[in-house]
Amino acid sequence: MQIKRAAVIGSGVMGSGIAAHFANAGIPVVLLDIPAKEGDDRSAIAKGAVQRLLKTDPAPFMHPKNAKLVTPGNLEDDLALLADVDWIVEAIVENPAVKADLYRRIDPVRKAGSVVSSNTSTIPLGVLVEGQSDAFRRDFLITHFFNPPRYMRLLEIVGGEATRPDALAAVADVCDRALGKGVVRCKDTPGFIANRIGVYWIQTAINAAVDLGLTVEEADAIVGRPMGIPKTGVFGLVDLVGLDLMPHIAKSLLATLPENDPYRAAFREHPVITRMIAEGYTGRKGKGGFYRLNRDGGAKVKEVIDLSTGAYRRSDKPKLESVSTVGRDLRALADFPDKTGQYARRVLAHTLAYAASLVPEIADSIVAVDEGMRLGYNWKQGPFELIDRLGTAWFADLCRSEGIPVPALVEQAAGRPFYRVEDGRLQHLTTAGLYDTVVRPDGVLLLSDIKRASQPVWKNGSASLWDIGDGVLCVEFTSKMNALDGDVMAAYGKAMKLIGDGKGNWKALVIHNESDNFSVGANLGLALFALNVGLWPQIEELVEGGQRAYRALKYAPFPVVSAPSGMALGGGCEILLHSDHVQAHAETYMGLVEVGVGLIPGWGGCTEMLARHAANPRTPKGPMPPIAGAFETISLAKVAKSAAEAKDLLYLRASDGITMNRDRLLADAKAKALELAANYTPPEKVTYTLPGPNGRAALELFLEGFALQGKATPHDMVVCGKLAGILTGGPKADVTQPVTEDQMLALERRAFMELVRTEGTIDRVEHMLTTGKPLRN
Ligand code: NAI
Repeated sequence: MQIKRAAVIGSGVMGSGIAAHFANAGIPVVLLDIPAKEGDDRSAIAKGAVQRLLKTDPAPFMHPKNAKLVTPGNLEDDLALLADVDWIVEAIVENPAVKADLYRRIDPVRKAGSVVSSNTSTIPLGVLVEGQSDAFRRDFLITHFFNPPRYMRLLEIVGGEATRPDALAAVADVCDRALGKGVVRCKDTPGFIANRIGVYWIQTAINAAVDLGLTVEEADAIVGRPMGIPKTGVFGLVDLVGLDLMPHIAKSLLATLPENDPYRAAFREHPVITRMIAEGYTGRKGKGGFYRLNRDGGAKVKEVIDLSTGAYRRSDKPKLESVSTVGRDLRALADFPDKTGQYARRVLAHTLAYAASLVPEIADSIVAVDEGMRLGYNWKQGPFELIDRLGTAWFADLCRSEGIPVPALVEQAAGRPFYRVEDGRLQHLTTAGLYDTVVRPDGVLLLSDIKRASQPVWKNGSASLWDIGDGVLCVEFTSKMNALDGDVMAAYGKAMKLIGDGKGNWKALVIHNESDNFSVGANLGLALFALNVGLWPQIEELVEGGQRAYRALKYAPFPVVSAPSGMALGGGCEILLHSDHVQAHAETYMGLVEVGVGLIPGWGGCTEMLARHAANPRTPKGPMPPIAGAFETISLAKVAKSAAEAKDLLYLRASDGITMNRDRLLADAKAKALELAANYTPPEKVTYTLPGPNGRAALELFLEGFALQGKATPHDMVVCGKLAGILTGGPKADVTQPVTEDQMLALERRAFMELVRTEGTIDRVEHMLTTGKPLRN
């Protein structure tokens, strides 16, 4: 079966977010809620939800125009709309009787063979289908999205005894390819995988902090980064989710978990927290939670709850000897002879033992459990991967010393790791105690798998070249934060040599990596060092070398396809502008942000943006409109908040591709590279018709207006003045004489070199490096 149209019932937090995400995938969606009791518009609830979606930050829509794909309505007048959809997602209140009643109403009107799924977090599927028709039972499953649905990658999917396998497969496929989710199959047990383990972990970590007398900040500093968990740790996470939600989840789990489940013993109500909820301290959505920003008296002061008194006090970053001495050594952290070490021991032992005791009860394999915690709670490693970091034998001893039964799977591992690499393939330990290969879904190609199975073709300190099969070479950035430097340019040079004319062993190049961010641009630290000691020729060489490398790739006799995800800023954006094709992950955030550090895009970014605006059919005729378009984007350092938005800003071309599922990005990019290689001709060189000083004067007039309104700072005027000079073709240009690309690049270089010598720019770079924020000087 195919899923082309969808409906979501319930337009609350989850339902509206799920509907928005269907729209992001280009799937038309009906969004229904109960009829409004007041006012003339009976669909006001669902309509209001769509309006709210458009104002929510971070945005649930990848592009505001996606809102048009959502048709709001109400459950009395618009029920007939359900007859046209292939999949109905129910996301109404968490109450089995209310859900059952709704199912009985929609069953007769829905299309025969359409799928119905519930977004329930806690109600077993068996309970949900009680008393429903046989056809309904066959078409019913659970799809558990995480909040917010656009951004959280996990989708837990549960089929019942009666569920049609093809319905399950069709929904899983749409969730994976169209919605971009990491689909994890779970068994029909309370809380499925991620919340079952996550809620236990939260409870354990709070109990241990209270019992051992740790502060909130100390606890978060231990369970956060050192364990590969977001720095919100556990208290910060509860603030994010909402303190008030926790008692509901606990109640529901206590009602459904097996009698002997360890969560029952761990569950405890802490009077401080109960009081916080009663007083409205429900977390970030309310007036604060364990942490809050106190704005009293004008200044913003970060405060934190004292767990023993329940009063707020000023929050200080804790300096923990354990964390600073052990580095990434988790064993050393758990062995550290103070209460923070004791805390790490307790949380790790209880949480990981609990997780290990739940396979095969909640999922068939440890791989699903690890994936659930990685994608649902943003852990860098899942529980079994964490146990491997400690060593299974060491972990068994830890359980004994903490007085917890050693989980059967850990006993069975008998010192062997849960994961190993055999013949270059990742394997996992099964419940039968044997190793089995970790199988990727069809069409998923991961650089990490290639890296496990092979050696790089070539590498230096900042980049590696990998053979990704079928004659395609891949450049991976490996520098800290994927900052770009001379070594990255050298890697491009090496790739050019290896691929040659594209008719030998290699046919095409893909630029890709699996870091959170594709690249945040040039290595500013290096640049600042060079500025401070006046290494002007070296800086000039970095600029010129980058221009050479990017241009060489652009005009190479073979196709270059870039496949970014996350941030692609500055020089990281410029390489995308020079690629023949960009296959972008939907969550790619592109921007030429150089102006923020007092610079202009100097690796061909100004020139390429000008070309894009000139070539865009929507740009009005004449020399000035393309210039004004590029000027606006670069001078305001605009960053696209999705790949779809990057198309609006012309950072991406209409022909560039978007992949929703990050795990499918490399395969899509490789397929495109091979398609282009089959019949490749490099792009033609273009020239620019530019007005020179007259045009520059017009832009400067515009800038002065901004300055008068207080929107441009004095150094903005200097930087944007230089930008205006480049985009209008320099002092000698006039519309009768086309400006070549070489001349444009020379203008970029000159402006860049003039700017790096200004105090304003040096201050901006320094400020960015020390605070991570732009300086408005
Ligand atoms: P919510 O309270 O924000 O929204 C519920 C919506 O259902 C409201 O718009 C309400 O008008 C509507 N509704 C109430 N009674 C109805 C009825 N009889 N018929 C039709 N619509 C009705 O709830 P939320 O948080 O969006 O939760 C929805 C479902 O998603 C629940 O099953 C919940 O357990 C689950 N869930 C919630 C998550 C969260 O973080 N909030 C995460 C994952 C799942």
